[in-house]
Amino acid sequence: MNAALLQRLRQSLAQREGSSLRRKLAARASADTRVNLADNDYLGLSRDPAVVAAGVAALHEWGASSSASPLVTGYTEIHQKLEQTLAAWQGYAHGLVMNTGFSANSAVLGGLPKKGDLILADRLVHASMLDGIMASGARLRRFAHNDLDALELMLHEEPALDGVIFVVTESVYSMDGDSPDLKRLASLRKRFGFCWVLDEAHATGWFGSTGSGLQEAQGAFAAADIVVGTLGKGLGSQGAYVLSHAPEVRDALINFAGEFVYSTYLAPSCAAAALAAVERVKGMSAERAELHALSHAWRDGLVEAGFAVPSGDSPIIPLILGDSDVTLKYATALRAAGFMVSAIRPPTVPVRTGRIRLSLRRGLSPAVLSSFISALKGVSS
Ligand SMILES: Cc1ncc(COP(=O)(O)O)c(C=O)c1O
Repeated sequence: MNAALLQRLRQSLAQREGSSLRRKLAARASADTRVNLADNDYLGLSRDPAVVAAGVAALHEWGASSSASPLVTGYTEIHQKLEQTLAAWQGYAHGLVMNTGFSANSAVLGGLPKKGDLILADRLVHASMLDGIMASGARLRRFAHNDLDALELMLHEEPALDGVIFVVTESVYSMDGDSPDLKRLASLRKRFGFCWVLDEAHATGWFGSTGSGLQEAQGAFAAADIVVGTLGKGLGSQGAYVLSHAPEVRDALINFAGEFVYSTYLAPSCAAAALAAVERVKGMSAERAELHALSHAWRDGLVEAGFAVPSGDSPIIPLILGDSDVTLKYATALRAAGFMVSAIRPPTVPVRTGRIRLSLRRGLSPAVLSSFISALKGVSS
């Protein structure tokens, strides 16, 4: 290996190590019995018998791989059925399955905005959206997190533009579990005529009377121009999708998005599992009510125990601990006490806001909450 390159890599890794920010992979055993408070399988669908059976049946019918990029032979009848089902469920005319949420965001935001356009993005949008934005050549302004007054001010400040204005938000923020007011965003969109790109990754399955997301729950059904969602979180599978009212968005991705064109397509078994998951999710309104109650109970319990967490009913609770070494200390102790947790540190989150990102799931009993709080108190004492 080239010596200068090795030296550079060692230096940057040592820098991360020195500030408790070096990331390390830990292989999870299938027999790990710790309570999982880290992954995004909020409704437990990755192990749902109907979802698993659909995936297995597709493995037998189609084999283990799509074996090609979508424009060659990778796009199958299952992918087509899935995109149509997702679009109809969430109120859109057009859908396109993508390999990952990351590539869906980078394709949409790297491909649709151009030089001369303006992107107004929430300060905390996901890295995949920023990757796309940076590649697009459009001008970026970021507004304070969930601060729609600040967004409105920016919209007033901007002189008439030849280009397009894009507004980029999530519906449930991945590291904070909070949300903007989607109805207000919808009305701003009407007034100012921008193109609204909404990432519903963490809301799908959890919010809405049929589980289609926060737009449904907040009475802003299908209000965004473009929705990006993933199949790998609440839907318990893998992959992602882009929905739009205009057919040109889907067509542009098929024609111009390298992430779509030049990559082996999502395995049919993943698409089939996701399709089964959508059908399961639609009928899970009782489970959703229980999950929202669980979210309130965990937040209340943590606050009572002296830990400041925001109120809300999303699946994600940020337990903000500050410096990275403190965050790591908590994570190590919680893991030893039988909880699978992740220590989230910069650059994933802003400096000095290191946190344990708790993600809730079906089946967490009140006893788990009590023992989690005891373990937390054990670290802080
Ligand atoms: C808000 C948000 N969007 C997109 C993604 C990427 O989705 P995927 O895991 O399917 O690549 C994530 C994943 O963490 C996310 O949190």
